[in-house]
Amino acid sequence: METLNKVACGFMFVLVVAFMCGSRPVSGLLNTYLYINNTIAPNTDFTYDCNSTAGNFDEYTLNYMHEWHTKFENFGATTKLWCSMWWTDKNGRQVKGNSDIFIGNRDEERCRYLCKYYAKVDGIYLHNSVKNKLELMYAWPK
Ligand SMILES: *[C@@H]1O[C@H](CO)[C@@H](O)[C@H](O)[C@H]1NC(C)=O
Ligand SMILES: *[C@@H]1O[C@H](CO)[C@@H](O)[C@H](O)[C@H]1NC(C)=O
Repeated sequence: METLNKVACGFMFVLVVAFMCGSRPVSGLLNTYLYINNTIAPNTDFTYDCNSTAGNFDEYTLNYMHEWHTKFENFGATTKLWCSMWWTDKNGRQVKGNSDIFIGNRDEERCRYLCKYYAKVDGIYLHNSVKNKLELMYAWPK
């Protein structure tokens, strides 16, 4: 019985270690998750082309209320992500802008590891998870 307990205990230990290593790879600890959600207006598509210091992204178009996300390591708070973005307003005018979206050393404090951006009629907002409110980060050119 004693031996069996020891064996069972050792087996549990191996399981726990395997679980911890499997579910939390060391490199995954630093991941920052970045979301972009189109909340501009019903029937309005939002298109953007983003590049980052961690690599380039393709061009994407989001329907209203749809979301895109990516993840990267903001190692040493040095990661930057910038985008070219455009959409058409209700008068048929194209609204277009270029902006840095995520700046590692600025936004690490604002959104920690979960950075949710919202495209709106007046600009791009970021959910500040410390203050728990949306902040306008970039206003569309007039
Ligand atoms: C986008 O944001 C809106 C407003 O917060 C929310 O209702 C909607 O569920 C979000 N879309 C996704 C796909 O999460
Ligand atoms: C991203 O990189 C591609 C390929 O180099 C380039 O064509 C595109 O203009 C870049 N976009 C931005 C927003 O920098």
